[in-house]
Amino acid sequence: MTVRRAFGKDIPALAAIEASWPGYPAWGEKGLREELTKPDSVTLVAEENGAAAGFINFWIVRPEAQINSLAVSKDLLRRGTARALLGKCAEYARKSACSSMTLEVAEGNSAALALYASAGFAVEGRRPRFYNNAEDALLLRKALPAGDKT
Ligand SMILES: CC(C)(COP(=O)(O)OP(=O)(O)OC[C@H]1O[C@@H](n2cnc3c(N)ncnc32)[C@H](O)[C@@H]1OP(=O)(O)O)[C@@H](O)C(=O)NCCC(=O)NCCS
Repeated sequence: MTVRRAFGKDIPALAAIEASWPGYPAWGEKGLREELTKPDSVTLVAEENGAAAGFINFWIVRPEAQINSLAVSKDLLRRGTARALLGKCAEYARKSACSSMTLEVAEGNSAALALYASAGFAVEGRRPRFYNNAEDALLLRKALPAGDKT
């Protein structure tokens, strides 16, 4: 698997991955395309045998890298794709002088919470009824100490 910057030609595949997850707050092709034009927005795609396996989008808002979206193809789960994308995000964030990564996740998203816990994120807050005025969002952060490569 390789992880690289996303280009315009990747957008239909990334939108299809988002759309395959019901209830996931998807940007759609238009929103994903707009992200490619924003100077502080980074979209990385994980490629497996020439096809998109997953993607991550984050914004460099120093001193934080704010993760906005992370999704993996349903056919390719539990192969380390999300972990690899988070690792590249951390690498990019460090190089961009960020000292932490942050994100919001639905309290009931057990797969994502397990992923983020295994990647070293800790819960630092909660937004009540954040999703559709029903489900709480948890706010997570991972510190990126200078010189630490984990
Ligand atoms: C959450 C998601 C990104 C995980 O992608 P993935 O590529 O399957 O995750 P990885 O293979 O990198 O998993 C890394 C670790 O995360 C944890 N994990 C991932 N999915 C899990 C699941 N369904 N149940 C329990 N633990 C899980 C495990 O610790 C796993 O390590 P292991 O496989 O060695 O046990 C994927 O399920 C997804 O796209 N979900 C829909 C979109 C979404 O909810 N995104 C998060 C928004 S905040």
